[in-house]
Amino acid sequence: MHDLDFLRTLAVQAAHQAYAPYSKLRVGAALRSAAGHAYTGCNVENASYPVGGCAERAAIAAAVQAEGPGFRLQAIAVAAFGSDGAALPVSPCGACRQSLIEFGADAAVTFRQSDDGWMEVKAGELLPFRFILPSR
Ligand code: THU
Repeated sequence: MHDLDFLRTLAVQAAHQAYAPYSKLRVGAALRSAAGHAYTGCNVENASYPVGGCAERAAIAAAVQAEGPGFRLQAIAVAAFGSDGAALPVSPCGACRQSLIEFGADAAVTFRQSDDGWMEVKAGELLPFRFILPSR
């Protein structure tokens, strides 16, 4: 199985762990680190809405926790499902794009499109005018 297909399968599984009683959108993410390991995350919502977190950044947190500050992102898949269980096209939000680029601007990002195919794009392409902390 191609690694992106494997990550897509893991992302689907992770989405089913989501805690999303408010939006009812269950999101899963699965990434491959440059070191060759896979990590997953799901969205975790909260009654105080802004306290909730995205699947992609949960997966990144798991990777950093496991590998430390040397973690580099090689590829990530995102999968989402609605309350009826149907797969939905969801691409990483702006905050997650900034976070993905932090760990790998050249990383492959794959997510479902509206035609049910899978988009494959580099993280850097998702956020061309990303924030870069000026050094002074
Ligand atoms: N969500 C993610 O997990 N990842 C994204 O990139 C976009 C949005 C979650 C957050 C929230 O729990 C739900 O989707 C609806 O916004």
